[in-house]
Amino acid sequence: MQIGIDKIGFFAPHLYLDMNKLAEARNIEPEKFTIGIGQEKMAVPPITQDTVTLAANAALNILDEEDKQRIDFVIFGTESGVDHSKSAGVYVHRLLGLNPDARAIEVKQACYGATAGIQMAKGHIALNPDSRVLVLGSDIARYGLETGGEATQGAGAVAMVISADPKILAIEEHHAYRTNDIMDFWRPIYSDKAFVDGKFSNEQYMAFFENIWNQYKEKSGLTLGDFEAICYHLPYTKIGLKALRTILTEADEDKQERLQTNYKASSQYNRNVGNIYTGSLYLSLLSLIEQKKDLPAGARIGLFSYGSGAVGEFFSGVLQPGFQEHLHVQQHEELFASRKEISVAEYEEIFQNTLPADGSDIELNTQDDPAAICLSGVKDHMRQYTNRAD
Ligand code: COA
Repeated sequence: MQIGIDKIGFFAPHLYLDMNKLAEARNIEPEKFTIGIGQEKMAVPPITQDTVTLAANAALNILDEEDKQRIDFVIFGTESGVDHSKSAGVYVHRLLGLNPDARAIEVKQACYGATAGIQMAKGHIALNPDSRVLVLGSDIARYGLETGGEATQGAGAVAMVISADPKILAIEEHHAYRTNDIMDFWRPIYSDKAFVDGKFSNEQYMAFFENIWNQYKEKSGLTLGDFEAICYHLPYTKIGLKALRTILTEADEDKQERLQTNYKASSQYNRNVGNIYTGSLYLSLLSLIEQKKDLPAGARIGLFSYGSGAVGEFFSGVLQPGFQEHLHVQQHEELFASRKEISVAEYEEIFQNTLPADGSDIELNTQDDPAAICLSGVKDHMRQYTNRAD
């Protein structure tokens, strides 16, 4: 039985900041951001979007009534969740009107959470072939104003339905993974911003990739020539390109060119959204399969997942016949086209406008947020959500 991605959707908030303007405001050459780091635009979440609403909006766009009945497991990968106890998956389960006979949990390991979710989903489907699992990767990446990581922030979510006989990507059997307790990036419970040793995290990303890629080749017997594309976890798009370049010479020249062209397609959405942590690798996959129109069915795609702290994994999938018919290209084109640019001053104001930290109530104005699902306030310590699609 084949198991894999049957549906995939994405959501980002409607506001963005142009990286050229951020560079100008910070007295940095724009090319450092657009070429050196490889980012054009950064999604900025208004106060009416949190990780729950981002994920719920991403899933809302792909689920039909049959999915809502058949999904019996919601796995929510995030590292910027809204509660230390209650899973964000439970909120999403309710907001989407899913069958109550379901499990709903949250998974955490930095940017690796959604990959862990997919692996769990695979096991669940193997035991329950008629089930469908909703895997979510949703995050708001916050490093702080005028910090080293500022240019690598972003916000957004990817939603995937994992099932037997998937219509988009069948996940293959071989996986290589690794854990090492390191402090390259972390966020203590008292902080709403991440701590990061940027250079060290880059080094570790590369070291994990080298180790896991070699392990994967040994386990699977495959070589780089067997891949049509490799998608990477992309905190910023330059890092994946650098990782790809370390192995490119393992393929012939034609394949090298194809891998580089496909890398460009696979980083297009990420370049215009920024870092979305757990969803980042899957946003890259979505960008590849929606932007590269001539990918053949049967093509093998490699996926490199990295979650600081750190856990990494490499696995692969094969594109299914007719997969293009099950994508939501137009919906995503409209999402990008309808976004509104904001100034650096507006971004700074939005960044600092956070929910009360002392537990007091707040009512939020959701009028300016066009998303179907919004955070409308906090009352008696409980987040209040509205769903215009109801
Ligand atoms: N034109 C073109 N490129 C330029 C440039 C210019 N004018 N000025 C600088 N650059 C290049 C640098 O040469 C460098 O490229 P290289 O990495 O190939 O050498 C790149 O831009 C970044 O410059 P650097 O000085 O290293 O940036 P930085 O000290 O601001 O740090 C990060 C960049 C990504 C480490 C930092 O933003 C960060 O900490 N981000 C969060 C952590 C993260 O995303 N980690 C990833 C692993 S999960």
